[in-house]
Amino acid sequence: MRIGILGTGTLARALADVWAQSGHDVMLGGRSPEKAAALAASLGARVSGGDLLQAAKGRDAVLLAVPWDAVADVLATVGAGLAGQVLIDPVNPVRYSDGTVLVRDGHSAAQEIARLAPGAHVVKAFTFFPASQWHPGEGHVTVAMCGDNDQTMDVVGTLVRDAGGVPANLGPLSRARQLEEAAGLVFALVAGGFDPRSAVPSVPQVSRGA
Ligand SMILES: NC(=O)c1ccc[n+]([C@@H]2O[C@H](COP(=O)([O-])OP(=O)(O)OC[C@H]3O[C@@H](n4cnc5c(N)ncnc54)[C@H](OP(=O)(O)O)[C@@H]3O)[C@@H](O)[C@H]2O)c1
Repeated sequence: MRIGILGTGTLARALADVWAQSGHDVMLGGRSPEKAAALAASLGARVSGGDLLQAAKGRDAVLLAVPWDAVADVLATVGAGLAGQVLIDPVNPVRYSDGTVLVRDGHSAAQEIARLAPGAHVVKAFTFFPASQWHPGEGHVTVAMCGDNDQTMDVVGTLVRDAGGVPANLGPLSRARQLEEAAGLVFALVAGGFDPRSAVPSVPQVSRGA
């Protein structure tokens, strides 16, 4: 696939690297095209760098790898050009110090992203796990995701597998608030000194997809 990544930070670097290793062509777009080009050069021949508009144009999927407080700025620049494209939203709109979700009740960052990028097929995915998690291989982790279009979910499911995850489709984008609250729970537990994995039950008899 031809993948665009908006942002040149921790998550952008990790997923650009793993997707390039899986055979995809990746373009990193930054507010500093020079920084994007330098990062791309460190990641091999399948990764290129440029500005935000270049990375958003003509892609099979675009990853929005910027913080929640930068989303409106970035989509003001590229949102209109994303119509008809797959837009992956990994954004955790939470205060890291205590896990509070920063989107008003009844709304979600994902739905706000869909509003700011009209016509884009938004999928919420890649939210909870740290960037260091992603490497090629057989399903290390389950990646809960949601979106409104089955074909789009298949595209993102392929990218999840290529990053070493197992896609778990939770349903429409209206489920995104639940994922964002769950991310908040993870951060709240970490802030409290707990391992989040110790706070959810193991239910071994439930099979995948049940
Ligand atoms: N890191 C993780 O482990 C992880 C895991 C799951 C989800 N996420 C989510 O992924 C997103 C990115 O996280 P990250 O850790 O990669 O962040 P990061 O390392 O801080 O990188 C943020 C990127 O956003 C860019 N940016 C910030 N403000 C901008 C603006 N106004 N206009 C254009 N670009 C702007 C930064 O550009 P400059 O380099 O020019 O400053 C940088 O490239 C966040 O929403 C986060 O919640 C992260």
